[in-house]
Amino acid sequence: MNIIRAKDYQDMSRKAANIISAQIIMKPDCVLGLATGSTPIGTYRQLIDWYNKGDLDFSRVSTVNLDEYRGLKNTDPQSYYYFMHENLFSHVNIRKEATFLPDGTNPDAEAACAGHERVIRELGGIDLQLLGLGNNGHIGFNEPGAAFEKETHCVDLTESTIKANARFFDSIDEVPTQAYTMGIRTIMQAKKILVVVNGAGKADIVARAFWGPVTPEVPASILQMHPDVTVVCDEEAFSKAPV
Ligand code: GLP
Repeated sequence: MNIIRAKDYQDMSRKAANIISAQIIMKPDCVLGLATGSTPIGTYRQLIDWYNKGDLDFSRVSTVNLDEYRGLKNTDPQSYYYFMHENLFSHVNIRKEATFLPDGTNPDAEAACAGHERVIRELGGIDLQLLGLGNNGHIGFNEPGAAFEKETHCVDLTESTIKANARFFDSIDEVPTQAYTMGIRTIMQAKKILVVVNGAGKADIVARAFWGPVTPEVPASILQMHPDVTVVCDEEAFSKAPV
């Protein structure tokens, strides 16, 4: 594992964006695995900035997202579909037909999840998967206890994730209780993985995920077994690392 320490959120975002832009420059038709949540927003802003300056070209890039709430319309501002358009896709020259999220509008969970796996396979797999880290160690929506061998599947969100995500909704009752998410197996098949983490609130889980035992109780801990993982962490998130 390659752990990169960043000064603060801005620095973390720039370093992560640098790694993603290197991927795009090295392989212009790469497949990027993308993530939502508040952590990657700065990374997306930096990529947009470099695109605007003429340094990046997304015209041949394809993207697949990690997860999506089940049951929200694409036009719902809380859907990850909306988030991705708002925070990245609408601002760069990516072909909209080359951007894929699990279809949260499809009530048939099995079909929606199998469809997402098919897309990833047909694209030839993910070159670089970006990940945030949930407060309880979840990646995508793979909550503690999730089996490591799963592919894209439907999950019931834990109470703590529903609470953590309630800040984006008008009330906690509006937070969906289920989501479609790439499984740990899908994530582990990405050729490279880039994790971004910031803030003191993540310090404990960073220490457990990247220096603790590999256990389904901390889903992100499996990343220790991946051959090409880079974690970009700001000082606060790094503050409890035992090194
Ligand atoms: C959500 C997403 C995850 C994300 C996590 C952390 O649950 N499904 O992919 O990593 O939130 O979010 P944040 O970056 O806002 O802390």
